[in-house]
Amino acid sequence: MYDLIVIGTGPGGYHAAIRAAQLGLKVAAVEAGAVGGVCLNVGCIPTKALLHAAETLENAKKAAEFGLVFSEPQRDLTKMGKWRDKVVKKLTGGVASLLKGNGVELIKGFARLTGPHELEVDGKKLEAKKTIIATGSKPAALAGFEPDGENVLTSTEMLRVESGVPERLLIIGGGVIGLEFASIYNRLGSKVTVLEYEKQILPGSDPELVKLLTRILKKQGVEIRTGAKAVSYQRGKEGLAVSIEAVKGGESEVLAADQILLAVGRAPVTAGLNLEAVGVRTDERGFISTNEHMETNVAGVYAIGDVARPPLLAHKAMKEGLVAAAHAAGKPAAFDQQIPAVVYTNPEFASVGMTEAAAKERGIKTAVGRFPFSASGRALTLQQSEGVIKVIADAENDLLLGVHILGPGASDLIAEATLALEMAATASDLALTVHPHPTLSENLMEAAENLHGQAIHVINR
Ligand code: NAI
Repeated sequence: MYDLIVIGTGPGGYHAAIRAAQLGLKVAAVEAGAVGGVCLNVGCIPTKALLHAAETLENAKKAAEFGLVFSEPQRDLTKMGKWRDKVVKKLTGGVASLLKGNGVELIKGFARLTGPHELEVDGKKLEAKKTIIATGSKPAALAGFEPDGENVLTSTEMLRVESGVPERLLIIGGGVIGLEFASIYNRLGSKVTVLEYEKQILPGSDPELVKLLTRILKKQGVEIRTGAKAVSYQRGKEGLAVSIEAVKGGESEVLAADQILLAVGRAPVTAGLNLEAVGVRTDERGFISTNEHMETNVAGVYAIGDVARPPLLAHKAMKEGLVAAAHAAGKPAAFDQQIPAVVYTNPEFASVGMTEAAAKERGIKTAVGRFPFSASGRALTLQQSEGVIKVIADAENDLLLGVHILGPGASDLIAEATLALEMAATASDLALTVHPHPTLSENLMEAAENLHGQAIHVINR
């Protein structure tokens, strides 16, 4: 009998398993696929590896501005694929040894719940006092665009750059996956069109920054069509003919493409888990419902990460894994955290906390500070001066409500803003903190200063 069995070894699952073992539980982790889950194998990590490779192509060109002229870069996609795999292998190998080093038993196979304290892994019976379900998510489907590995691909197949770079790539979905792959393939030479159903890409994100990002991406050569949906496609001699329709107005049009990337969201993976037999409840979208301890309606059965609820982010899964593990070990733990989000476009787009619209919806009067990267010495030295930082505070008490960053290093800068929000900091706290110069981080301080009309490097309005 195990104290705890974790199903799935993605970021959520391996965090849960390791923490539970650290807390003295006898733990097994069951994995049907590859250790590390989507994030390490076919998600966050390989995407970032390719983004870096594609960005380096661009940077080689940009270096001419400061007198370094390289000959035309030679692109070897097979080698790029091998490098991507090398990074992935190093990390997945690392996770396997962390599990082992912490005394977690790794069981390869497909787990099925047979009772609140029983599982079957490929027919073999296992017993556990508690179970954490961390089975993740898979690409959501869109009628008429079934992935076939040739015409319509998901992000998983799209990572295989060695299969070739399509001349014309149509991406359905202007969300995180759509935009990150648009950035990779645009740099690698595809003519990319992004089709987004809503009236802006990254629906729900700060519209002002999204507008700026849209402009920047268009300048980079990515075509963006919002308020449009894909209806069907046909393969002809000239490639794919994709019928699209305006969401409002219904005008239709045919776009030519060589390949389609389907990126319209992700769905929880629960098939085959046998949740019904144990009585674990899911919501109307299929996510497993949990309380703040990540425990489902069945005592001792937990769910974390993508399978539990949005946002579908690795770091949210990690934290939920730690909470579930601690609670399963009898420690007080609950999930009540600020969750930053990052889109790895160039420049990066990161945010935490409320947008102005969300604050208004709650009836909060906001004060907003901005600081453009064009006024940042460090950004200029990095040739990355596009973007802006936006700090939102409660106008009545100066408490920070949200920070939205479009610009270089946004993925790292957002961590300071997240800490500030967790600590219930005010805009003045950010403004009064001495930040090193010259850095990108001092721009966050200046955005907070601008909120009070006191930024030094811009005219405050
Ligand atoms: P998403 O939910 O971010 O975006 C999907 C987009 O497709 C939405 O903007 C939606 O309005 C649009 N859409 C839906 N149906 C459509 C249709 N028929 N035609 C045109 N547009 C349509 O989902 P995405 O990009 O697939 O990513 C899945 C999840 O993975 C997200 O929740 C995201 O948070 C996560 N992820 C996070 C990353 C990161 O943290 N950097 C990287 C990649 C994914």
